[in-house]
Amino acid sequence: MKGIILAGGEGTRLWPVTKATSKQLLAVWDKPMIFYPLSTLLLAGVRDILVVTGPGQAEAFRSLLGDGSAFGVSIAYASQPRPEGIAQALLIGRDFLSGEGCALVLGDNLFHGDRLRERLRRAVRRPAGATVFAHPVRDPQRYGVLAFDGDGAPLDIIEKPASPPSNLAVTGFYLYDGTAPDRAAELRPSARGELEITDLNRSYLEDGELAVETLGRGCAWLDTGTPASLLQAAQFVQAIEERQGLKVGCPEETAFQLGLIDADGLAERARAYGSSEYGLYLAHLAREEGSVPDPAGGLPVGGESRMSLP
Ligand code: G1P
Repeated sequence: MKGIILAGGEGTRLWPVTKATSKQLLAVWDKPMIFYPLSTLLLAGVRDILVVTGPGQAEAFRSLLGDGSAFGVSIAYASQPRPEGIAQALLIGRDFLSGEGCALVLGDNLFHGDRLRERLRRAVRRPAGATVFAHPVRDPQRYGVLAFDGDGAPLDIIEKPASPPSNLAVTGFYLYDGTAPDRAAELRPSARGELEITDLNRSYLEDGELAVETLGRGCAWLDTGTPASLLQAAQFVQAIEERQGLKVGCPEETAFQLGLIDADGLAERARAYGSSEYGLYLAHLAREEGSVPDPAGGLPVGGESRMSLP
């Protein structure tokens, strides 16, 4: 399965902050925002990634992520000339996907939680159709929202409903089979001029091919599109990292735990970050891994380390 990170858009709700730079390059506490969705894709088992950026912004992303070898994966870049909807990423990525299924993640979405890797991988193994991940929110009017029938089966998805049928929002992580680009090509722009991801998901739903995975209390889902939500996400990450001494959304660490890079690769990356706290964390991981017993008996959640810093 291939992966797409959508890092386009003008970030208008963050202007003037995003007038001269991409939202997905802004810091969420101690690392660029795109590190979080990148970690999520690695956890899901994706090894071939396309980063879709705004016009003229690919170089900045490339200077951060390179060709992906630092994370043991392949990363390519494409541009979305205008912000014409999330579903457009599947049209831009059509050649890259070449008929394969994909995981699409929004570059400003952050997932962290219990057994996230298992849940993602289980969904990835589903052979056909699409899977969306739902999460309860206090303000469903801001999102795509799921409606369910009496048996709990998905009945509808409504984009930014005035009267939400549930409190379960569709998060910005989607799994699609190889039919997604053709389905996206059939969509018409919505009233806000976008190819809506909700319309793509509805096309699967209407064919009886949409699965819904609900991420409950054991999982945090944060988006970072406004000054308040950006600050909240940073504070969330700060609180967890300072309490646990483990990083959230650290793609080098995830790659190391998954065996995509070895200790030398990790140490090299640590050197590239110099004496920053992030660089020292990676250096510590590269030095110490292997000598610390694994209390959980396996890879824990969200890309965190199974080690703690002293
Ligand atoms: C988009 C989708 C919406 C989804 C949300 C998740 O909203 O349209 O269905 O719930 O992402 O972050 P937008 O960011 O375009 O307002």
